[in-house]
Amino acid sequence: MKIGVLKEIQKGEKRVSISPNIAKQLIEKGFEIIVEEDAGSSSNFKNSDYKKIGAVIERRGVVYKDANILVRINPFDEDGLKLVGKNHILMSQLFHKSNPKLIEEIASKEATAFSMDAMPRISRAQDMDVLSSQNNLAGYKAVILGAYEMTKIFPLMMTAAGTITPSRVLVYGVGVAGLQAIATAKRLGAIVEATDIRLETKEQTESLGAKFISVENNSEESEGGYAKEASDDYAKRQKEAVDKSLFKTDLVITTAMIPGRKSPVLITEEQVKQMKNGAVIIDLAAAQGGNCELSKMNKTVIKHDVKIIGTSISPESVSTNASDLYAKNMFNFIMHLTENNEFKWDLDEEITDGTLIVYKGKIRNNGKTK
Ligand code: NAI
Repeated sequence: MKIGVLKEIQKGEKRVSISPNIAKQLIEKGFEIIVEEDAGSSSNFKNSDYKKIGAVIERRGVVYKDANILVRINPFDEDGLKLVGKNHILMSQLFHKSNPKLIEEIASKEATAFSMDAMPRISRAQDMDVLSSQNNLAGYKAVILGAYEMTKIFPLMMTAAGTITPSRVLVYGVGVAGLQAIATAKRLGAIVEATDIRLETKEQTESLGAKFISVENNSEESEGGYAKEASDDYAKRQKEAVDKSLFKTDLVITTAMIPGRKSPVLITEEQVKQMKNGAVIIDLAAAQGGNCELSKMNKTVIKHDVKIIGTSISPESVSTNASDLYAKNMFNFIMHLTENNEFKWDLDEEITDGTLIVYKGKIRNNGKTK
């Protein structure tokens, strides 16, 4: 079977779905790899790196024509879809809940499509979970970005010229990104606090040496590992519990997202007004509307002497590592779905069932467009 690795064409995207290292492992398992030319160049993987391990470099049209499995990170675009046929198996993040039109188009081609972002949150799927592997890096990068934008340093420093007190960091949302943000800020020497709607994150926060801010009656349940939308009452209680910390913090990282929905607004303009001069907010939920009322995606907004940076959870700025981890997730996923290079099509199996959005032109329940 031939796996076609397509170049990501979305603006700002630097990652590639299969790195040379993982392409080599797939070839060793008996797959053929055909890579669109320059697909890896923004992640510092050259065409020659792929050729060296036995992959073939081709133009876009040839990759679509020759490959059975087409692999990407971002959802398939209009032009690409024109080249999709009924024997193709597509694998990428499809964000199917918010992209019903795309799903219908794939179905109209009678193709088959798996969505990497629909991975069930069960232990045995952990090594295939692209949201996890990418969000982890995004959490790290958010702190580094914040450190760069701040006018203070993180650690306590005693010098002959005086003592510098440590910076305070507040993390909203203790999922994969939030946990890594906490760990990174702690490593850099900051005083770290965090809050989450899911009470089970208290222990995880404390195990990293950070303080958990509990919200009274913090009992909002999660749905299959994903947070549910918070009630207005919860949002009010959250403000009461967190505001004291928010108003004295130097760096805020927000990561709270609800799959398929607009992100909850956790910091209003009124709250920003009361924050310290020079404080920085890195809003990782900006692509879904933002956790701060003032956030704008891919923009830095300075208001009330606070710098608000709206960015996304996609860690393009660490594209070499991000591509390698995404590729490893893909490798594990392909290994899970196949045996002796043939698909098993075990539709009752939980991981296959959860991620298979279109099967031979039929939209499955997960496609949510039925
Ligand atoms: P996410 O990206 O969906 O959300 C980030 C965090 O924001 C979550 O912890 C969520 O509870 C929190 N949040 C949402 N609304 C909020 C609000 N109004 N106020 C405060 N916090 C709010 O979360 P992520 O990173 O996807 O992880 C969620 C959980 O799933 C984690 O416990 C993670 O370890 C688990 N997980 C399990 C996997 C597996 O078993 N295969 C794979 C990936 C994650």
